[in-house]
Amino acid sequence: MSDTKTTALLIGTTGMLAEAAREAIARADKAVIVSRKADEFLYGEPELDEKLVPLALDYEDTARFITEIEKHGPYDIALTWIRPRAELIRAALDATMAQGGLLVEVMGSRSILLGKDGTPSIAETRAHALAAQPDITYAQVILGFKIEEEGTSRWLHHHEISAAAAAQLDDPIPRRIAGTLEPWEKRPS
Ligand SMILES: NC(=O)c1ccc[n+]([C@@H]2O[C@H](COP(=O)([O-])OP(=O)(O)OC[C@H]3O[C@@H](n4cnc5c(N)ncnc54)[C@H](OP(=O)(O)O)[C@@H]3O)[C@@H](O)[C@H]2O)c1
Repeated sequence: MSDTKTTALLIGTTGMLAEAAREAIARADKAVIVSRKADEFLYGEPELDEKLVPLALDYEDTARFITEIEKHGPYDIALTWIRPRAELIRAALDATMAQGGLLVEVMGSRSILLGKDGTPSIAETRAHALAAQPDITYAQVILGFKIEEEGTSRWLHHHEISAAAAAQLDDPIPRRIAGTLEPWEKRPS
């Protein structure tokens, strides 16, 4: 008998992405939530918390991290906020997605900048890699900043970041910029 249950994977979503992760959990039967202290995280809402499968893992320990997340795949929905690059973990993630799955990756502002030696940005590298996997819907969120009316700028608030990620779950597009990245020299210090 085939398993028709929907499984979500949430990596690094216990902070600023907690509200977006709620949307992914609501759509899943089981939600594997991964962070160093994932076993301490709860929403305090039984209909969400009873779906959580916490994996307390540090992505600095790449091999263990990959082995453990692979055990719970394939994933129909994934929402991730992982330190820059982490190529091996990201590649493993691609391979653990279910056919027809949706992968939402949240990245910082600098993820869109070219490397010092002109190497492609991590955002471009990922978009390119996932284009070769058309059985997965891939949706990026690049975190920008806000320019206020008085001309000052600030980094995004958690609810703004979560709203952009939730929009990718609802209506995925290849790249969604949360706030703005332009003009780059106006970014907050
Ligand atoms: N425009 C932008 O680029 C922009 C805008 C807003 C914010 N930011 C950046 O976003 C950051 C927000 O803070 P934050 O990254 O601390 O986000 P956060 O969402 O508050 O927390 C990071 C998430 O990743 C997990 N995590 C961190 N290190 C981990 C590790 N080694 N292994 C596994 N999971 C790990 C954390 O859980 P555990 O602690 O349980 O591991 C948590 O779930 C700021 O540093 C700011 O620079 C950037």
